[in-house]
Amino acid sequence: MKNKKYTIITYGCQMNEHDSEKISWILENMGYEWTENKEESDFIIYNTCIVRQNAEFKVYGQLGALKALKRRKPNLILAVCGCMMQHEKARKVILTKYRHVDIIFGTGNIHKLPQLINRYYQTNKTVVDIVEDNREIVEDIEANRKYTFKAYVNIMYGCNNFCTYCIVPYTRGRERSREPEYIINEIKGLAKEGYKEITLLGQNVNSYGKTLGYDYSFADLLKDVNKIEGIKRIRFMTSHPKDLSDELIEAMAKLDKVCEHLHLPVQSGSNNILKKMNRKYTREDYLRLIEKIRKRIPNIAISTDIIVGFPGETEEDFNETLDLVKKVRYDAAFTFLYSIREGTIAAKMENQIPDEVKHERFQRLLDTLYPIFYEQNIKFENKIVEVLVEEVSKNNEEVLTGRTSHGKLVHFKANKDLIGNMVNVKIDKVKSFTLEGYII
Ligand code: SAH
Ligand code: SF4
Ligand code: F3S
Repeated sequence: MKNKKYTIITYGCQMNEHDSEKISWILENMGYEWTENKEESDFIIYNTCIVRQNAEFKVYGQLGALKALKRRKPNLILAVCGCMMQHEKARKVILTKYRHVDIIFGTGNIHKLPQLINRYYQTNKTVVDIVEDNREIVEDIEANRKYTFKAYVNIMYGCNNFCTYCIVPYTRGRERSREPEYIINEIKGLAKEGYKEITLLGQNVNSYGKTLGYDYSFADLLKDVNKIEGIKRIRFMTSHPKDLSDELIEAMAKLDKVCEHLHLPVQSGSNNILKKMNRKYTREDYLRLIEKIRKRIPNIAISTDIIVGFPGETEEDFNETLDLVKKVRYDAAFTFLYSIREGTIAAKMENQIPDEVKHERFQRLLDTLYPIFYEQNIKFENKIVEVLVEEVSKNNEEVLTGRTSHGKLVHFKANKDLIGNMVNVKIDKVKSFTLEGYII
């Protein structure tokens, strides 16, 4: 009998991408083979995200479009998992309006997938399995990683911060740290397989270690990962400004493998809005922190997340955000329109901002940011940078792309045999989002 084929469609953040790599490992152990093509799949999984409304709506649209395929191929199994499924209301929508979905599971029980598939075969009824409180850490799932040279490694799960706009604490449960021993062993294994770059994942990596019950911090973890032979680069995300310690700044400055890049979401430049967001720092705290980091690590690249149109955001508040981004001079930023998430505190706040105002401010924010990104990139003109070669450019087969330690995307012409290697590139052209150059 030919092997059954599967496909996974992933939305959301690196956490979800990595969860999909774990799901892929589980399915391949069951004998399934990967395909890009939904039409030829026997098993389709949507790994969903609910952080903003557009992520959620995309999934409904896609599932609707699969009704016809499911009718044509009654043996096709359709599964939905991920953060949307941890949200009762979204789960109900799937159960009532998308009845052709066969298996529903959440973020805390990926390891049970083989059992769920069996249960579906035995009963031929929709299988729903959700762990509501998500307190456990399951250690024995490996991952079928997308790349052979860079890897995500979970260091902690969940979040305790409850920023008032954010649904993640409700979908990923309470913060819990993995034992350092497991993390180190996983990375040692990756190094042996030839992996060069590791990205340590957590919603708030700076509070790593708090649930371990003994004294071991994120800085300690970085020191231990830095010792692993074969690993060339260490990245991590995300850092919450309120928890970024001097000890961590010192570790970043001293450890040679830790990349010169920090993603430090600010969300807003207005104290009034930061307070309503429950971010627990002021714009002054944030600016002081940036100054301190740059003093210790002068060339560090800094990126951020910004939300536009949080409830009650006045023109004055928004101008404070524009002023802050001009002061910080970010290297990159993810910008979002505030999206109401049912179940969060901000969803019930008064003075929700009309869409037109959000869009207009959003555009002004981009108009302010892009020249700053360009200016930050100009520093690399005519410089030689070390690049980890990642893939062939989507737009031009002769061009490869990769990243510098600063996280800058570099385009250069070269043979694709170089993918997975570190090369030196001389930069001869600079744009707001990319650097271009040639191998030397
Ligand atoms: N734990 C990470 C990121 C979580 S979600 C952190 O704290 O930085 C990634 C980003 O999505 C957030 O930083 C925030 O900018 C954005 N986001 C979260 N909820 C949102 C919402 N309701 N509307 C718009 N953007 C949101
Ligand atoms: Fe969401 Fe805030 Fe937690 Fe990040 S720190 S996941 S934004 S609640
Ligand atoms: Fe990530 Fe979206 Fe869940 S951002 S944690 S996949 S809600």
